[in-house]
Amino acid sequence: MLGRLNHVAIAVRDIAAASAVYRDTLGAQVSEPQRLPEHGVTVVFVVLPNTKIELLEPLGEGSPIAKFLEKSPDGGMHHVCYEVDDIIVARDKLKAGGARVLGDGNPKIGAHGKPVLFLHPKDFCGTLVELEQV
Ligand code: CO
Repeated sequence: MLGRLNHVAIAVRDIAAASAVYRDTLGAQVSEPQRLPEHGVTVVFVVLPNTKIELLEPLGEGSPIAKFLEKSPDGGMHHVCYEVDDIIVARDKLKAGGARVLGDGNPKIGAHGKPVLFLHPKDFCGTLVELEQV
């Protein structure tokens, strides 16, 4: 069912500082920040040869990242995103196996303009999992 690792997302307090770490200290290619109010985040993409890192900073009230940063004030790994061919087929198979899909269970359009779903971390080794249809 799973395809490539699309990205690893890292929650950060200060996306400008985090971008500088990836660009200047680690020498990676880093995008301009994009504000995504519908997802409650500002995102920067770090492009690596085999995958991407997404730096996520809270944006606006009720950001899903704000709560995470309360527990992990230094920031940290927020989720991993795996590619799937058909997100509805994947969702239905996972649900049939007892996995919990977050939200209303329907795919939303994610930061890359593709349908995404999130799976409950308790069902996946303590890690929030995003599926993206590619
Ligand atoms: Co993501």
